[in-house]
This record gives sequence, structure tokens and C-alpha cells, in this order.
Amino acid sequence: MQIGNWKSTPELGPLYRQIREMGLERNIAELDAFGFTVLEPGVAAPMEWVRRLRDRLLDVAHERTGVPHDLEGGAHGQLNTQPHFKHQYILYYLLLEDPIFQQAVCNPHLLALQTYMLGFNCRLSSCTSFVKWRDEEGYGPTLGLHADTPVAHPIPVGKDTHTGNSAFLLTDYTLANGALAMVPGSHRHARQPGRGEGVDAAIPIEAPMGSLVVWNGNMWHGAFPRSEEGLRLVLTMYFNRAYLYPQEDYRRNVTQAILDANPKRLAVLLGLADANMWDSADGPDFRGAFDVLRAAQEEAGLPTTANPYEAQPDETDVQVAAG
Ligand SMILES: [Fe+2]
Repeated sequence: MQIGNWKSTPELGPLYRQIREMGLERNIAELDAFGFTVLEPGVAAPMEWVRRLRDRLLDVAHERTGVPHDLEGGAHGQLNTQPHFKHQYILYYLLLEDPIFQQAVCNPHLLALQTYMLGFNCRLSSCTSFVKWRDEEGYGPTLGLHADTPVAHPIPVGKDTHTGNSAFLLTDYTLANGALAMVPGSHRHARQPGRGEGVDAAIPIEAPMGSLVVWNGNMWHGAFPRSEEGLRLVLTMYFNRAYLYPQEDYRRNVTQAILDANPKRLAVLLGLADANMWDSADGPDFRGAFDVLRAAQEEAGLPTTANPYEAQPDETDVQVAAG
């Protein structure tokens, strides 16, 4: 059927049309049904770009650990970041390291799927990488199964989710290479798994380098141990709805030059469309925050939210607190 400009779905209509144009209808059906979906290599980004992303990430890993990394031989460094593992380490706070990480987060296919789950005003929670090597134990018998959502269970959102996660695979993922473990359909439980729960139903996400995996934040997932030599590399991009705190706070550190060089949506993803957490006696900048949201909506070809400050710019009725 044709998706119209229906009044009852002012945001979903245009977004769904975009999803159809991108060929992602199958992926949102899989997200709804199973809690995860995989975009094949070349769909979300060309392989030449994926290779550049991989190489830049290896540079950062080298810079931060002091050790050159070898994807085939398995040479790697280690960091003291938390949580600390003997089979992998986590590179945090990657977004501002290089424009290519910003391009990854602003990827149109990725954002279409995250927006479908979390709304246009969702935030980037974190941009990280798990660098993983051979270790027969890995996360151990539980496979590290968990749901990403930080909201204590029962998760009060019905079949919706507070968060969504995603991963550009930068090496081939197989069972022996330590692939992601997913429990298909587990997002419907809308709670964390009990210890060991779901392990017998977990499957490996076997997909080649360049694939983009996207999953619902209620999904039970972890990873299998890597039994082969070499390294597993990934860029993980985690998002949350606008009402949750993000894991990484880029809002105070992102530069105007970075914002200018990227789609206007990046400012929304980094929280600049949220007037809360003002830090001076000047108080909140409601108008400024609203302008950030509207500019991003305009650039994305979406209908803009009505600006409550335009009609009566000096008579805001926004509730700062109870009075
Ligand atoms: Fe996770």
C-alpha cells in the first residue's frame, strides 16, 4: 500500500517511506519478530569505507595501548578499562577520535532502524569497540548473556524498548571466531535473563566483515569464546531514548567544527536538542535546543515539530519546575 502523510502518524509515515526506499522493511520485521537483524556487507556502507574504519580503529588501539595489533596473528594490547576481561578489552569514547566514527554513527541505514525503535530524538549512548582474542573461556558458561537496557526489570515498556544497539563487524564473525550470541525472540521477555538462562537457545551471529547487526535493547545477547587465533574487531554504536542518560557524554566536548562537518542529526544524537542539565544562572536555552531538533528534522526531510516559542516568543509556558 501507499504510505500517506497521515495525521495520526506524523513521524512514522515519512520514516516508514524512507525505510521502504532503503529496502529495510524486512529488517524492521526481523527486529520486531526476533529482536535483531543483520544487514549484509555493502548494504549500509561500501567495503572500501569498512576497511578504512577497521584500519583507523586499529590505529587507535595501537595508540592507546602502545602495542601494534595484528588481526591474523593475534598480537594485541590491553587496557585497564572496566569491566576488565582476560579475553578482550573495550575501547571507549571513540566518536571524536576521527570523522569516520562520526560517519558510522550517522549512517542512514543504521539511523533509520534506530529511529524506528527509539524515535527521532534518540541519543547516542556510546561509540565503543570490543577487541577480542583467542581464549577458550571467554565470558564462561553464561556467554555473558544480558539485555543492554539499564532499566531495572520488569522493563515497563511493553514490546517497545528504551535502547537499541548495533555493530559494524570489522572482521568475519563465526562461532569459532567468537561471534555475538543472540537468543532470538528474547526481547519479548522485556527483562534481564537469570544467570545461565537462555544459554541453551543462544545462536551465533555468523556474518562476514562489513555486516551491520542491529538489535533491540531488551534482546538477550552475549558472545561465544574465540577458539581460533587472530582478533575479532567491531564498532559498537549504542543508542537510547531521549529520556535516559547516555553512557558517554559528548555534549560538552564535541566541537562546532565536528557538528558542522556532519549531518545536523548528530547534534540531536549528542543531546544538543535537550535543554536540561543547564549549568549556569542563565538557565535553560529552550529555544536553542528546539532549533537544533528542527534543523535536523528539516535536513532529514521530516515534518518539523511545532515550535512553542515562535508564536509567543516572550511568553513561554514551559514548566521549568512545578511553578
Ligand atoms: Fe550488550
